[in-house]
Amino acid sequence: MFEINRYYTELPKSYLFSRIAKTVADFKSKHPDARIISMGIGDVTRPIAPAAIAGMTEAVKAMASADSFVGYGPEQGHAFLRSAIAETDFSSRGIDIADDEIFISDGAKSDIGNFTDILDSRIKVAVTDPVYPVYVDSNVMAGRGGHLLPDGRWSGISYMPCTESNGFVPELPRTAPDVIYLCYPNNPTGTALTRHQLGMFVDYARRHGALILFDAAYEAYIESADVPHSIYEIEGAKECAVEFRSFSKTAGFTGLRLGYTVVPKELYGLGADGSRVPLRQLWLRRQTTKFNGASYVIQCGAASLYTPEGREQIQQTIQYYKTNASVLREALQQAGLTVYGGVDSPYIWAKSPAGYGSEQFFNLLLERCHLVTTPGNGFGPSGEGFVRLTAFSSHQATREAVSRLSNLL
Ligand code: MLT
Repeated sequence: MFEINRYYTELPKSYLFSRIAKTVADFKSKHPDARIISMGIGDVTRPIAPAAIAGMTEAVKAMASADSFVGYGPEQGHAFLRSAIAETDFSSRGIDIADDEIFISDGAKSDIGNFTDILDSRIKVAVTDPVYPVYVDSNVMAGRGGHLLPDGRWSGISYMPCTESNGFVPELPRTAPDVIYLCYPNNPTGTALTRHQLGMFVDYARRHGALILFDAAYEAYIESADVPHSIYEIEGAKECAVEFRSFSKTAGFTGLRLGYTVVPKELYGLGADGSRVPLRQLWLRRQTTKFNGASYVIQCGAASLYTPEGREQIQQTIQYYKTNASVLREALQQAGLTVYGGVDSPYIWAKSPAGYGSEQFFNLLLERCHLVTTPGNGFGPSGEGFVRLTAFSSHQATREAVSRLSNLL
C-alpha cells in the first residue's frame, strides 16, 4: 500500500466550522421546530450588489456567442480587474501596487492555505492565539506543526497570545520565526491594530528577515482613522509582506468565490544556494502550474464593483452589517457581558458569563436561544472563555437574537 501524508492524520478530526455545522445539524434533527439563528461561520446574507449582477450577466451573455466567448484567462487574473484593484484599493490610498503584483484567485482562504507551498518545509511560523484555523492547519498539513500539545497548541508553531490583558495586541515573538501570520481587523476577536502597532511588526520582520502573511479580508469594515487598511500603508512593508484580500465579506462572494493576493516585487526569499529569489516569480510559477485562473464571469462581476455605483452598493451592504454589529455589541453589554470587537470588524468577541467555558456558553446559546455562535477555544487556547458572534445576519434575525439573548442573560 502507498503511504499517505501522515500529517493529515495528526490534525484534529474535522475543521472547526465543519465540527460546528455537525453539532448544529444534530441539534436541528432533535429539535426540528427550533428557529435557528446562525451567527457562527462568517457567511453573509445580503444579496450580491446589483452592479456585480449586471457585470456577470453581461459576461454570461458574452459566453453564448462565438465572437465574444472567453476561454482560459491569464492565471494571474484578467488585466481589467487587476488594474481596477490597483487603482481603487491601493493607488487611491497613496499606495503604489503594480497590476502585475496582484494575483486574482478563487478566494483568500485558498491563497492563504497554498502560499507556503513556495516556502521551505522547515520554516518556523508564528500565529496569534486565538487564530483563524487555516493558518495553523495548513502548516500542520505541510509537516510544520510538530506534535499537538495537551493544551491544543502545536509544538512546532509559535503562538502570540491575544488576551484581555494585552488588549488583544500580540507581543512580538521572542525567537524570530520565518513567517508571521497576522489578520487585521482580526478574525476572531474583531479587534484592530493601529498604524503604530502594525508598524512594530513590519519593523520586526525587516530586522529579522521574516515574512508577514497579512490577511486583510475585513479591511472594508475599518472605521477608526488610525487603523491602516493595507499593510502597505506602513513604510517598508513591501519588502516583508504579502497581503490577502477577499470579496466575500464585502460583495457577498462567499458562494461565488473571489479574492486576490498582493506579492510585491521587492519581496525576496532565500534560495538553496543563498541567492535572493523574488517571491512574486515563485508564486506566479505556482499559480500557472496549479491554478487556471478564477472564473471569467465572476471576475467581470467583481470589476463592476469598482464603478461608482458598485462602490456605493458595497458601502450600503457594509453599513448594514455594521449596524448589526453595534446592535449586538450594545445588547450584550446591556445584558452584562464584556464584549470586544464589532467596531472595525463584523465579529464580536463576547466573554462567557462567570462559570461558563467557551463550549458551555456555546451550548447554552444553542440550546436555550437557538443561536449558533463559534466557541472561542476552537480558535486556540487563548480563545477559551469567549464565543464569537457574527454581524452577517439580517436586521430582523439580529434583533430576534438580541431579544432571545437578553431574556436568557
Ligand atoms: C469565519 O467564519 O471565520 C470565516 O467565514 C471563515 C472564512 O472566511 O473562511
